[in-house]
Amino acid sequence: MSLVTPITTPGRPEAMLPRPFRVVSQHRETPDTSTLEFEPENGHGLSFTPGQFTMLYVFGIGEVPISISGDPHRPGVLVHTVRSVGAVTKAIVGLGVGERVGIRGPYGMGWPVGAAEGKDLVIAAGGIGLAPLRPVIYDVLARRDRFAAVSLIYGSRSPADLLYPEELREWRSRFDLEVEVTVDRSDDGWLGDVGVVTGLLPRVPYDPAHAVAMLCGPEIMMKVVARELTHRGVSPHAIHVSLERNMKCAIGICGHCQFGADFICRDGPVLPYERVAEKLRVDEL
Ligand SMILES: Cc1cc2nc3c(=O)[nH]c(=O)nc-3n(C[C@H](O)[C@H](O)[C@H](O)COP(=O)(O)OP(=O)(O)OC[C@H]3O[C@@H](n4cnc5c(N)ncnc54)[C@H](O)[C@@H]3O)c2cc1C
Ligand code: FES
Repeated sequence: MSLVTPITTPGRPEAMLPRPFRVVSQHRETPDTSTLEFEPENGHGLSFTPGQFTMLYVFGIGEVPISISGDPHRPGVLVHTVRSVGAVTKAIVGLGVGERVGIRGPYGMGWPVGAAEGKDLVIAAGGIGLAPLRPVIYDVLARRDRFAAVSLIYGSRSPADLLYPEELREWRSRFDLEVEVTVDRSDDGWLGDVGVVTGLLPRVPYDPAHAVAMLCGPEIMMKVVARELTHRGVSPHAIHVSLERNMKCAIGICGHCQFGADFICRDGPVLPYERVAEKLRVDEL
């Protein structure tokens, strides 16, 4: 099927049409990951909610789902952070300023930031999982007074694999955001923590009865953090995870991304842990 041919989705025939965007900046985050900013050729930006994703099409190579990692209060610039793992993501990471791609979306259900208002918020990220959570941090910091304690715990493979190091430093220096970072393997210059993200949970402030948690990273990391939070008294209903599955249409019709009763593109990617815990446990077996 051609990606530029509209399909007959009732009420939304335009949902499958990529729009032309151009790369306006490219920043190498780690050896295999880059953050790119895109601007639409027609001048209309994409409004999105934190946690949503787009389908990014590199002409002649293919199309992949990528979370939006930018500031929801700056919809004119579309920001994606991409790790090169295969043909399409390698091509995206290799894009230069001025190059053109096709983008459709935004799609999916994002993080329940509104439901976290008035509560303690625990954000837990592993590796590239910080990218879909960065818009939550921007959003929360833009109206910080509406939330109680807010903390970010973040783990990566090594210090060189940490995303957004300058922002991490800036966030760490704030008195109204608790930031704890750990790595699996240290290097000579690393004076911080070494170990798994769950080891950071006892250090951050939250009242389990009044906390909302948002987790994104490798599935094993999300399962371990969710179990630990549950063990500490946070309701599985208040824990949210962002899941990844192979996608094609991204609008809930092809079934490629089915996960139990849910289509990850339409019902997710962010889902309450209580809804997916059993299915994640079965997948583990
Ligand atoms: C909702 C959603 C949001 C995403 N957001 C981001 C993002 O912000 N940044 C980013 O870099 N990536 C993100 N991904 C993952 C990205 O879509 C995949 O890495 C991409 O589809 C791989 O395509 P490829 O052609 O480069 O590699 P392929 O040749 O398709 O795959 C290369 C290798 O990566 C594995 N792989 C493929 N897809 C995934 C996946 N979803 N998760 C884990 N391993 C995979 C394959 O099994 C294979 O081993 C997201 C995925 C989803 C579903
Ligand atoms: S990708 Fe087609 S239903 Fe989700």
